[in-house]
Amino acid sequence: MSETKPKSEKRSWLIWVLVVIVVAVVTGVGVWYVTRPPPPANVLEIYHWWTSGGEKAAIDALVAVFEKEYPDVAVIQSPVAGGAGYVMKSVMKSLVMSGEAPDAFQLHAGYEMKPYVDAGYLEPIDDLWKSEGWESVIPPVVRDMVNWGGHYYAVPVNIHRANVLWYNKKILDKYGIDPATLNTWDGFFAACDKLKAAGINYPIAMGGQGKWEIAHALEQIFASEGIEFYQDLVNGKIDDPNNPKLVDALNTFKKYLNYVNPDYAALTWDQAVAKVIRGEAAFTIMGDWANGEFFVANMTFGVDYGAMPVPGTQGMYGLVIDTFEHPKGVKHPENSIRWLKVVGSKEGQDAFNPIKGSISARTDADMSKYGPYQRSAMQDFKNAKYMYPSIVHGSGAPEVFAAKFNDIASEFATTKDVSAAAKAIVDAISAAKSEYTKVWKLY
Ligand code: GAL
Repeated sequence: MSETKPKSEKRSWLIWVLVVIVVAVVTGVGVWYVTRPPPPANVLEIYHWWTSGGEKAAIDALVAVFEKEYPDVAVIQSPVAGGAGYVMKSVMKSLVMSGEAPDAFQLHAGYEMKPYVDAGYLEPIDDLWKSEGWESVIPPVVRDMVNWGGHYYAVPVNIHRANVLWYNKKILDKYGIDPATLNTWDGFFAACDKLKAAGINYPIAMGGQGKWEIAHALEQIFASEGIEFYQDLVNGKIDDPNNPKLVDALNTFKKYLNYVNPDYAALTWDQAVAKVIRGEAAFTIMGDWANGEFFVANMTFGVDYGAMPVPGTQGMYGLVIDTFEHPKGVKHPENSIRWLKVVGSKEGQDAFNPIKGSISARTDADMSKYGPYQRSAMQDFKNAKYMYPSIVHGSGAPEVFAAKFNDIASEFATTKDVSAAAKAIVDAISAAKSEYTKVWKLY
């Protein structure tokens, strides 16, 4: 006779088995939950060198547009201080070369992009240009500077003007100096003499901590020698140290330096602008990122300060263009593309540029968002007779030459040796000869 377990005993045995299974599953899930690999962080990391008051306010405004659109993405800004990227440029090269490229980084349009493009570190972004319709709103002169071999490798976020003379209007008013008289070097130096005689010993403010601040002034003086000369310069065609325009420009710069604050080498570009803001100096030559400093200092354009083209450069527009790109193999490719979309968007540009001092790289900017300086810059851009790419800000000439140019300008500020500087420039061009792959047609 077979023994059968009572029904109730069978049920409780089954319940025990079930309990054990459930406990095992729950524990397993718990262990998995605790030890599982962390989900990929939803991050965007960008590098830039916008650390001055105006620059920081502008990039924060652009990031705010991104954050509004993509609230789940944490933006990590990794700023590297040093105007014109003079520190960041080498930091970025080593990061990119060691496979550690951030999701996007600030890069000038033109030659500065070339080493990255040539070495295959950037992805072409033609599809993005197409889907965002950028070709129809970004003018050809800007488009061409981010296009290499028929492919787009970057998105411009702005158009800065290099050849701007900023002045403290209250000082000019006080000493009866009409800005209209400043459009020739003779008129400008006459005004400097007047201010000097009145006790303002250093009417021109200049920085020089990164050397480029000095080269920036010299570059605009080169432009004032005329577009033919500048075109030869960026095409690597200046081969005679006795070239009369080269010599004349250096002589003009020599004169200019007589009126410059002697502590220039210790100052950053924005500290030089601050001298004009405080009324310690009347003038400074700087790109229109300076407008961002006047802006954050609550100075009113046309009342407290003014701006005009550097003497001898009326009708010319010196181009400085900041871009971002999509490096190969980045950690957050989707967010990198999202960032580029915001960078190129009307909303992004109209948030960033009114603070930055630049004009939008897009022709459909909402003018009402921009202050009077930029509205006049937009007009000047539209009506410019000539545009020329900045060497100092990475666009116009091969990087090796641009770096040497900074050294030569800074050396000249101490030695004031015209023939040595002329020779050094010609030699630097000749040493970089094979790198001049772009042919600029500026007129
Ligand atoms: C330029 C850059 C500008 C501005 C300036 C000073 O090279 O294009 O955006 O920031 O340097 O840092």
